[in-house]
Amino acid sequence: MLNDLDKLKSQAIAELQSITDANSIEDWRVAYLGRKGKLTQILRGLSTLPIEERKAVGAAANDIKVLLDEELNKRHRAIKEASLDGGAQAIDVTLPGRTVPLGRLHPTTQIIRQINDAFTSMGFEVVEGPEVESDYYNFEALNIPKDHPARDMWDTIWISRDEASPTLLRTHTSPMQVRVMEKRQPPVRVVVPGRCYRYEATDATHESIFFQIEGLAVDKGITFADLKGTLYEFAKRLFGAERKVRFRCDYFPFVEPGVDMSIDCFVCGGKGCRLCSNTGWIEILGAGMVHPNVLRGVGYDSDIYTGFAFGLGVERIFMLKHGIDDIRLFYGDDLRFLKQF
Ligand code: PHE
Repeated sequence: MLNDLDKLKSQAIAELQSITDANSIEDWRVAYLGRKGKLTQILRGLSTLPIEERKAVGAAANDIKVLLDEELNKRHRAIKEASLDGGAQAIDVTLPGRTVPLGRLHPTTQIIRQINDAFTSMGFEVVEGPEVESDYYNFEALNIPKDHPARDMWDTIWISRDEASPTLLRTHTSPMQVRVMEKRQPPVRVVVPGRCYRYEATDATHESIFFQIEGLAVDKGITFADLKGTLYEFAKRLFGAERKVRFRCDYFPFVEPGVDMSIDCFVCGGKGCRLCSNTGWIEILGAGMVHPNVLRGVGYDSDIYTGFAFGLGVERIFMLKHGIDDIRLFYGDDLRFLKQF
């Protein structure tokens, strides 16, 4: 029996010396020292031996176990070192690591920040408001009474049409004009970025969820010249210092007079191309002087205070700047699109 043990020891050590990789080392450990390994079997069988022999074999087997454990650790270390400084399984520690992919800001967030920057540098403050809105703020307080045909301009997603408290998803950021004025006294100068909702079939230029940025300035003596100057400056900052702007009459119930503002086409320089539908102009926002009814509604004296307001479609601005032809890309979650910005 002691002879067998000796043989087992020499065989185990010889095998171990020839091993050069970590996987084979594990096989070796299982074969000799594992639960069903050769040495383990011998130790288990001890109880069947006569008492004298049991002592001798037990002691010898234990010594071998200790020795094999030590040899195993040594071999482990040797293999590891070999793999670091050459040899068949060498690790090149000078290779660059695997990069962790970094996320980035969504294009909508990027353009909102750019637009906010343009206005905050002109003294505007950024505020935000609720997306679930009451009929009062979205329509009534903006001089759009119930059953007024102007409501057709905003296809509305209703949360509740309950007579007492009709509730909806805001169709524009304009309700924030009223909420801000209710809380503050002039001078007021805010921009309000935020998500808006419309009950609309989607296509390349319409989404039922989109962002707007509202602007509002109210004080003594604010005139249409202030509106023009501010929005002209904005257009130049976003679309280039050489931009021209054009204002034309437009109708929004909460402003008087109301306008839409266009910039001269930055692709064709105004000659006419596909982007500007051969007109040379691209419409970028709606604006106007705050309607006296809206001012009176929040308790401002409309004989003393005047103001201007504007609203622009955030995605549209980004699309124009980058030549993107489908608004649905903003919510498509397609990395091939998002990664470009
Ligand atoms: N709220 C208007 C819209 O969504 C845009 C607008 C805002 C026009 C402020 C004038 C003044 O169509």
